[in-house]
Amino acid sequence: MSDGSAGGARAGSDIDPQLLERVLRLVKAISHEVRKVYVGPDPIIEALLVALLSKGHILLEGVPGIAKTTLVKTFAQVLDVSYRRIQFTPDLLPSDITGTYILDMRDNTFVLRKGPLFANVVLGDEINRAPAKTQSALLEAMQEGQVTIEGTTEELSDPFLVLATQNPVEQEGVYMLPEAQLDRFLIKLIMGYPSFEDELEVMRTHDRPPEKATPILSGGDILELSRLASRVHMDEELFAYIVRLAQYTRNHPQADLGASPRAAIALMKAAKSRALLRGRDYVLPDDIRALAPLVLAHRIILSPEAELNGYTGHDVVSQAIENTRYGRT
Ligand SMILES: Nc1ncnc2c1ncn2[C@@H]1O[C@H](COP(=O)(O)OP(=O)(O)O)[C@@H](O)[C@H]1O
Ligand SMILES: [Mg+2]
Repeated sequence: MSDGSAGGARAGSDIDPQLLERVLRLVKAISHEVRKVYVGPDPIIEALLVALLSKGHILLEGVPGIAKTTLVKTFAQVLDVSYRRIQFTPDLLPSDITGTYILDMRDNTFVLRKGPLFANVVLGDEINRAPAKTQSALLEAMQEGQVTIEGTTEELSDPFLVLATQNPVEQEGVYMLPEAQLDRFLIKLIMGYPSFEDELEVMRTHDRPPEKATPILSGGDILELSRLASRVHMDEELFAYIVRLAQYTRNHPQADLGASPRAAIALMKAAKSRALLRGRDYVLPDDIRALAPLVLAHRIILSPEAELNGYTGHDVVSQAIENTRYGRT
């Protein structure tokens, strides 16, 4: 459309404005569908969409009974792609999720019986209830986009999105997700209790006949949207802003390990997706500020003393945002 020199002062991408409007309409429709079932704040639904467009996975953490499962199930319904749910339990084996070779008696050959990971959208419910080995199989699949079954490598679907839930680790009967592997999730979202108004709404609507969300986005739509997101323009200043934020967390005295360059790239991708979801073809500092806690906090490994004192990755990221300037300084 333009070579980047034409257009408004903020322009810098060549995304057709009509496409941007179409994205806005889609976002509105998706949000409407999800809200037929789930009552909650916009940023939560937006976080799911950010992960989807960034080709990243998302982990929802929170106490039981706040509609984590309800939300991810409903979100998956809106996506018109293959979908599987895996309930993680203490006896779940890696092969239960990846699949396994079974002997076909008729001609004495081994055939692959594909596990539930071979779907476009995988809901991993309560992943921290399964042993580390099974969690690792999931995380490896998320990282590689493929699984290895008895020495043979199989490609997973594209798009491949894992929506996982877990209860906070203080609960009984759960296995801590290995901290170093949490960074396979683009976003970790901590869900809290609903607001007074939202909880009232949950009560009011609870006894109505259950509504179902209508599928809206095809696999092709998802891929197209994520290609669009990668074309969103990001200023040099904003690259520098992200790098400063990441470096701040690395130099933070309470952190043994701060945000890596991979984490910084993740934040960049997520920020572009958020911009697109809001109908912009350029990133604003606000996109970065809003997403930094969701993208960076779970990748920060605190020193043992800091952890003992109740410090969290979120504290480190908040301080990074407070103390890092955007723009020329
Ligand atoms: N914000 C909410 N919106 C809609 N329903 C809710 C909400 N919070 C709780 N509920 C209802 O509470 C129940 C528990 O939801 P569930 O998804 O199983 O929670 P979780 O997975 O967090 O344990 C469901 O019946 C759900 O309909
Ligand atoms: Mg649940």
